[in-house]
This record gives sequence, structure tokens and C-alpha cells, in this order.
Amino acid sequence: MKSYPNLMKPLQIGGIQIKNRLAVAPLGTNRLYGPKGEYTDNGIEYILERARGGFGLIVLGNVVGDMEVDKPNIVDGQIPPSYAPNTWKESAIRLTERVHMYGCKIFYQVGMGRGRMRNNEKAPSALPKYTNPDELTEVLTEEEIECKIKWIIKTAQMAKSAGFDGVEIHAMHWGYLLDQFEMTISNQRTDRFGGDLEHRLTCAREIVEGIKAVCGKDFPVSMRLGMKSYIRGFRQPSLDGTQEAGRDIEETCEVGKLLEKFGYDMLNCNSGIYDSFYYCAPPAYIPKGHNLHLSKQLKAAVNIPVFARDEMMIRI
Ligand SMILES: Cc1cc2nc3c(=O)[nH]c(=O)nc-3n(C[C@H](O)[C@H](O)[C@H](O)COP(=O)(O)O)c2cc1C
Repeated sequence: MKSYPNLMKPLQIGGIQIKNRLAVAPLGTNRLYGPKGEYTDNGIEYILERARGGFGLIVLGNVVGDMEVDKPNIVDGQIPPSYAPNTWKESAIRLTERVHMYGCKIFYQVGMGRGRMRNNEKAPSALPKYTNPDELTEVLTEEEIECKIKWIIKTAQMAKSAGFDGVEIHAMHWGYLLDQFEMTISNQRTDRFGGDLEHRLTCAREIVEGIKAVCGKDFPVSMRLGMKSYIRGFRQPSLDGTQEAGRDIEETCEVGKLLEKFGYDMLNCNSGIYDSFYYCAPPAYIPKGHNLHLSKQLKAAVNIPVFARDEMMIRI
């Protein structure tokens, strides 16, 4: 029987402390929300069950903040807080106050977008769309990228004012937009958003700097980070991880160091992108705790907390 001597010990994340190292992974579900993006009573009860169960931290599922460039997808239940700000805030305060009653902290997860993973969204470069590879994505202009960053910062500020303890940025994982900016296979830009690794992380840097400027430097900001893509190319998965054409763990360690330098307070990790979906949401044939050897390497490269799920967490 494996033992976890640190599991129930408190942990510092930026300016806050969580009571133990048990964290709920973000799960996007439109069932939490009413027609204006507000949390319903049922949705709040669903989240509270996790707080009652003893978790130290809950990270909510992704909502894209952008109201301008890629219009909010109301059908997906992806309604940004800015759509009906007062209705959203009233429900969010009811949620965060009740979560806090159980000594649990809660992070809001805000996304930049999905790029080539959705048919109607723009991407860093002209990329084959995931569901329609014969078509190429439209390319985001510099102004559109800046606009998307602005909406993330604004949404983080709203989350703080509604009592959330921190935010997590969605996502440099699963091949979503920030992942597309980071990986050379999907970023051929020649402006400040492309080029060497540090330039490919410009969005990530401007996001955290902007949030810290309006929410304070102690307000925790986490990055949802994929540690290995497991692809040989677009729509070419690599089950054994060889011939990696996306991001490998060595590059992830460099990314982690830069994210820490930029001001990120936590890395919430998993692996895989849509093109290798069996690593994103692993079926039974993928060994339990399959990410641990990667997260151990990443943790050795950074000084901030790294979250990854172990075999035991999966069984809980
Ligand atoms: C239906 C579903 C929805 C998910 N929604 C989100 C999300 O909104 N944000 C996010 O960062 N991860 C999301 N995930 C990823 C999970 O948090 C988790 O990383 C994934 O299930 C793989 O588990 P692992 O991290 O133990 O490998 C989702 C997964 C599933 C199956």
C-alpha cells in the first residue's frame, strides 16, 4: 500500500493556503449554469458536494471570457460572466461563500479559446481544423489576440470580486489556443506572439501580468498545462510517445520555468491533445497514474506547486 505523507498537509499557492493537497480537476459541464451563465441551485449543490467531501481546492470547468473575437457559444453552455454580469455575480457569491464554509478554496477557470479544435474559431496560424482537416483556420490578428487577453483579465477581475480565491488559465493543454501558440507545429507567426519559446509564450506572460496588475500580486494564477502531446503530426497520435511533433517533457520543463518567472503560482497538469485523445481522457487501457513520471520531472524543474492525479485520486 502506497503512503502519502504530505497529502493532508497544507499547501501555499501564491497568497493563499489550501488545507490539504486534494484538488478537484476542472470538468466543463453546461449543467452548472442557467440561461444567462449564472450558477443554478443544482449546480451550486453539485460543487458543494466536493467541498463537503473534504477537498482543499476545487477548480471549476472552463468558460471562455471572450465576448468579441470568437463570439460566446451559448449553445455549448459557454456563457461568459460578462454576458449578464450582475446575475452571474450574485450567483457566484452564493457559490463561493458556501464553498468557503467548508474550509475549501475555489478557483475560477477562464479560457482564451479553442482555435483549430473548433470549426468557427481563429488560430495563431492557418492550421488544419481538427474536425474538418481539409479546411484551414482563419488567423488571429495582433489586435484580436490583445482583445482576447483583455477579456481574460477582465473575467479574472470579476472572479476575484465574486469571492473566488484564484483563477486558472485554460489552457496550454489538449491542443487548445494557448497550446497552439506554444507549439512550433501550430505557430508560424513572425510578430511578438511567435518565434522562440519565450515569444511563443507572450500570451501566457501578458495574461498573468495583466491579472496581477488588477487583482494584486498575491492573487493566485494557475496554468492548465499539458506535459506531453503524444502526436507525430496533426491527427497522428503516438501511443508510445515516440517521434513527438508537439511538446515533450523536456520542453514542458522549460515552459514551466518561464511560467514561474512570469508570475504563475501553480501548474495543473495532464497530457495529450485532441489528436491523441486517449491521453486527454484516458480509457481503461492507459495505466492509472500515467502522468506521474512526467509531473515528477516537471516538479523538479520548478518551485511552484504542480498538480497531477495519482492512481489513488482516480479511485476516490
Ligand atoms: C467531460 C470532460 C470535461 C472536461 N473539462 C475540462 C475543463 O473544462 N477544463 C480543464 O482544464 N480540463 C477539463 N477536463 C480534463 C480533466 O480535468 C482531466 O484532466 C481529464 O479527465 C484527464 O484526467 P487526468 O488528468 O487524470 O489524466 C475535462 C475532462 C472531461 C472528461
